[in-house]
Amino acid sequence: MNGPREPIGVIGAGYVGLVSAAGFADLGSEVFCVDIDEAKIELLRRGEVPIYEPGLAESIERNRGRIHFSTTLDQAIGAARLLFVCVGTPPTYAGDADLSAVNAVVEAMPASANHALVMKSTVPCGTGRSIQRIFAEQGKAALAYVSCPEFLKEGSALADFLGPDRVVVGADGDSWAADAVCALYEPLGAPLVRTDVASAEMIKLAANAFLATKISFINEIANVCEETGANVLEVARGVGLDERIGPKFLSAGIGYGGSCFTKDVSALKLLAANSGYHFQLLGSVIEVNELQKRRVVAKLARHLGSLAGTRIGLLGLAFKPNTDDMRGASSLVLAARLAAEGAHVRAYDPVATEEALKVMPELDCAEDVEGALEGADAVVLVTEWPELLALDWAAAAAAMAGKVVIDGRNALDPAAVRAAGLIYEGIGVG
Ligand code: UGA
Repeated sequence: MNGPREPIGVIGAGYVGLVSAAGFADLGSEVFCVDIDEAKIELLRRGEVPIYEPGLAESIERNRGRIHFSTTLDQAIGAARLLFVCVGTPPTYAGDADLSAVNAVVEAMPASANHALVMKSTVPCGTGRSIQRIFAEQGKAALAYVSCPEFLKEGSALADFLGPDRVVVGADGDSWAADAVCALYEPLGAPLVRTDVASAEMIKLAANAFLATKISFINEIANVCEETGANVLEVARGVGLDERIGPKFLSAGIGYGGSCFTKDVSALKLLAANSGYHFQLLGSVIEVNELQKRRVVAKLARHLGSLAGTRIGLLGLAFKPNTDDMRGASSLVLAARLAAEGAHVRAYDPVATEEALKVMPELDCAEDVEGALEGADAVVLVTEWPELLALDWAAAAAAMAGKVVIDGRNALDPAAVRAAGLIYEGIGVG
């Protein structure tokens, strides 16, 4: 790109906000990052990063001179035309997206023809239209509105941001702001989907819902494989080679976790319901996922009989490797169900223990993997952290009281586990 890069404001210093701030700074933009959480901003100013995400701390450090942190909007509004909104939209008790943080930002926007609100937070389809209506009611009709959903995955967020499959930019009618957002992304060379606001909003929800559907589908195939003697790894490989299907997101396991799929699938289902349409398929996707998290309990009971009084080691707690995020983690359901059956659960995670104890303070967490293996009647691989995949199974067998290893991710080497004299059981692998 020629000339100086457009400076930007980023409102919300969570996963999406911090990764976007770091990513845009890496591309050369001056970034004004705002969050109302004073403690978080203080931490960031000191060079500490409040979340675990590979490469993020290094990128923020590298761009120290370019990223400015603040608890107020003034500096961002003064220096940047494009204000990227990256605040959380957690589920409400009714399962819809809670837009209170988004609404607070909308209230604080200036009545200015030189500024644009660029929505990165995941919002229900129709949100952009209502925000533009609010702007008109508040005399801020000149303020531009762009939808620019984010598709990054936790654990590889920065790499996803800098190497996206596509960039989606939604605006209604001609928009200087949409042009400016496209220009910001241009150096990445990704396919650009320039569309209207409602379609951009729906692309984000539909993409997450489709990926979740793919996972629930392969999990059901895995369950049928268990009944019929087929191996879901072979099936996924054979099916995924069909270019119309593709090999990704066909890993059977203990169900998808994380805040995004859980929240967005339910939000899309309810969005449809609120608009008068019953989205049947998504109801099944959610139900299959909930049941999948619980199937491990039945597997353990098949090997151990009653689980009352047994010791079960959980290997991994985070909803996926390379993150300490515990939101929607399948481990929480598993631990709670096992405790309800009377088992004593001892868990180990290389990174997420602190976050896990915030949501489940009663969880017994070991400081090292040996602590979770020691005296266990059975262990369950919950998160495929590299450290756990490299376990010495002979040493594990010597530490355990029993012999059962349930591989909730089909990520272990069954031969290595069996060679240690242990009983291996995966998900849908016979
Ligand atoms: C997901 C989407 O993949 C991103 O594109 C999207 O931007 C993000 O949500 C979001 O909306 O913010 P994320 O939740 O970070 O990203 O993680 P994923 O890699 O998608 O994994 C989600 C869950 O599905 C994990 O628990 C993972 O273990 C599970 N999974 C994934 C499977 O069980 N099987 C698979 O084949 C793939």
